[in-house]
Amino acid sequence: MSVPQRMTRRLSVHETQQAAMLLRAGGLVALPTETVYGLAADVRLPAAIDAVFDAKERPASDPLIVHLSHHLLGEDIARGLVSTGWARDGQWRGAVEALSAAAWPGPLTVVLPRGPRATDRITATGPSVAVRIPAHGATLSVLDALGDAVVAPSANRFGRISPTSADAVLTELDGRIDAVLDGGPCTIGVESTVITLVDTPAVLRPGAFDATLLAAWIGAPVATHAAPASATPHASPGLLDRHYAPRTRVIRLAARETWEPGASPPLGRFAWLCWSSPDERVWPWSSACTTLCLCPDGDVAGAARRLYATMRDLDEACFDALFVEVPPDGPGLLTALNDRLRRASSSTPILRPTLDGLLPV
Ligand code: TXA
Ligand code: MG
Repeated sequence: MSVPQRMTRRLSVHETQQAAMLLRAGGLVALPTETVYGLAADVRLPAAIDAVFDAKERPASDPLIVHLSHHLLGEDIARGLVSTGWARDGQWRGAVEALSAAAWPGPLTVVLPRGPRATDRITATGPSVAVRIPAHGATLSVLDALGDAVVAPSANRFGRISPTSADAVLTELDGRIDAVLDGGPCTIGVESTVITLVDTPAVLRPGAFDATLLAAWIGAPVATHAAPASATPHASPGLLDRHYAPRTRVIRLAARETWEPGASPPLGRFAWLCWSSPDERVWPWSSACTTLCLCPDGDVAGAARRLYATMRDLDEACFDALFVEVPPDGPGLLTALNDRLRRASSSTPILRPTLDGLLPV
């Protein structure tokens, strides 16, 4: 596909007015958020929204998240994007108000019935629209200066790892967008939780806030969406199996407690991303592979913050494969990390090192 070339500027975090002016003029500006950088276009400008799909090489079947500031939420602006049903007495009103009070600005995206301003392009012709208020001061300033919402999918080429720094945005989209507003590294590092409130509340994409917490906030059960087996149409197209993936093949390994003592890695040039600090159980691997540790100190939030940048760095080095020890099961970010690593491995089975080689768990 040939993508129109643009001169990409790096704006400092203070240049929020310039970012808003570029957006108003139909430009594409990557904006920082607490989760990952988003590629923004003014929600009022269909041509700019088309250009977002082109720059990302994103299929039209994948709907966009609308990003608002608090000042926009509940105003006519939001009401035109979301069906007025919830703003008055719709079944969603209580839940939206509870989530908005508890989670926004923050890493939560809420899927609601669409309003007249949510175009078919934004919603991928579906009946709903996804909205969130991101927790990044510079981006909230841009939204307030713009006076309206933006669409902002993650600022990566389709199917690849989301960028968590301005440099990573430029690696993905330099020459395809007008600017990136450099707001520093993202503080959370994995994409927002997506919850639908259309029909039964359900988490469509795990993130920092998990279903248990969301259920407590809305006072009703929240289901977790079963992972789709293939790229067939489903509730949230971003849940495609192969998503958030580096070019290098990712192979998930079971937690080291299950390894056969002395099991060695295959022959080749491999990177080995272990979860906690290497110990004697993994020494054949840590001595044979380029070894990095995602969570050396038990700090899960730090692991989430580092994951995508680490995978990007390892991807650059062109290893034969990237072995990753799966994080333990757990709430919140642990679920999100396991989800992203599963997708990065295209849902291939988790393997266990044995003296007979790598075998499915
Ligand atoms: O943290 C985030 O959410 C980041 C930052 C930039 O805000 N954005 C992000 O956008 O991850 P994107 O487009 O890469 O992922 C959006 C996800 C996709 O899985 C998409 O299918 C889903 O949200 N989505 C968007 N609109 C939807 C809708 N109306 N119904 C169901 N899922 C929707
Ligand atoms: Mg994305």
